[in-house]
Amino acid sequence: MHPHNFDDYLDDFSDDADERPMRSAARKGRRRAEDTPEPTRRGRLTESERARLTEQREDQLDQAGAPPSGDRWSSWDGAEHGPLPHPSWLVTELSAVDTELGVLKTGKEADVHLVERLLPGTGRRCLLAAKRYRAPDHRLFHRDAGYLEGRRVRRSREMRAMNGRTAFGRNLLAEQWAVAEFSALGTLWSHGAPVPYPVQRAGTEVMLEFLGEPDGTAAPRLAQLRPEPDQLTDLWSQLVGVLHQLARQGLAHGDLSAYNLLVHRDRLIMIDLPQVVDVVANPNGPEFLERDVRNIASWFLGRGIPPDLADPGELTASLLSEAF
Ligand SMILES: Nc1ncnc2c1ncn2[C@@H]1O[C@H](COP(=O)(O)OP(=O)(O)OP(=O)(O)O)[C@@H](O)[C@H]1O
Ligand SMILES: [Mg+2]
Repeated sequence: MHPHNFDDYLDDFSDDADERPMRSAARKGRRRAEDTPEPTRRGRLTESERARLTEQREDQLDQAGAPPSGDRWSSWDGAEHGPLPHPSWLVTELSAVDTELGVLKTGKEADVHLVERLLPGTGRRCLLAAKRYRAPDHRLFHRDAGYLEGRRVRRSREMRAMNGRTAFGRNLLAEQWAVAEFSALGTLWSHGAPVPYPVQRAGTEVMLEFLGEPDGTAAPRLAQLRPEPDQLTDLWSQLVGVLHQLARQGLAHGDLSAYNLLVHRDRLIMIDLPQVVDVVANPNGPEFLERDVRNIASWFLGRGIPPDLADPGELTASLLSEAF
């Protein structure tokens, strides 16, 4: 299910004259605009630059209804952004375009898509994982119960809608998962935990740093690996480190398994955090934490890690004492 070859992709954006008149016209337009330099502050757009780009976008939209390349204009501008400083690889320019490259994974609650964000004519691009939560039609989220205790929804209309499972309520629920995951990732990323950088959130969509290779091959889940003893021990100690980072923020993952940990170039990275649990505020917090540790420790023990290295009881106790 790998997306098509990336070199083909980049060829599409080369500066050679090509047979797509719409794009060439747009490119000329851009060149003309570049001929009149504007004072720009380093790393930020001046107001006039921003206005010019907006105008340029609107002109192009008027002509074609869509960007000159890609599927849509970069959705960066209208979204909630991830924590500062934005990583240098992130394309934040307003004239960038987003292109869907394929589906990374479809799940019960969300689909994860691979998206390329590219600044046409520059070769500047980044890959993003777009996680889109779905509003379930005839079913509840399995994660809705229990996890939401200790979290409050202030407006009672919203609370009633969610309890009543109206279409509005279901959408709101899906959006709440997106909000919760985006916020947990922001907190953890800011504290240096190994999680994908949360790029942006808009509605039910969270866009994340893509973990994988430039050709679009995603990093494997821990569950897919059969690590040698040395690597297994190393991954376990990375895991203990991540869990302590969470515990220091008073958090537990809440759905920890070898499917929600990716291994990218020997680095263990935690994903899938919408149901993150506040260990202190949630009355079931300590149980969730204990279950997380039990689940993941049994995967490691099943792969042959020495039991004295991976003692779930001991780890749970030290995480709890860290959290409280
Ligand atoms: N940032 C990322 N980079 C690369 N791949 C990712 C990223 N985020 C998610 N994936 C891929 O998408 C899969 C599903 O992501 P995630 O676990 O967050 O969603 P989910 O809806 O909970 O899926 P599931 O129900 O299968 O756990 C992951 O197992 C991983 O293979
Ligand atoms: Mg998952």
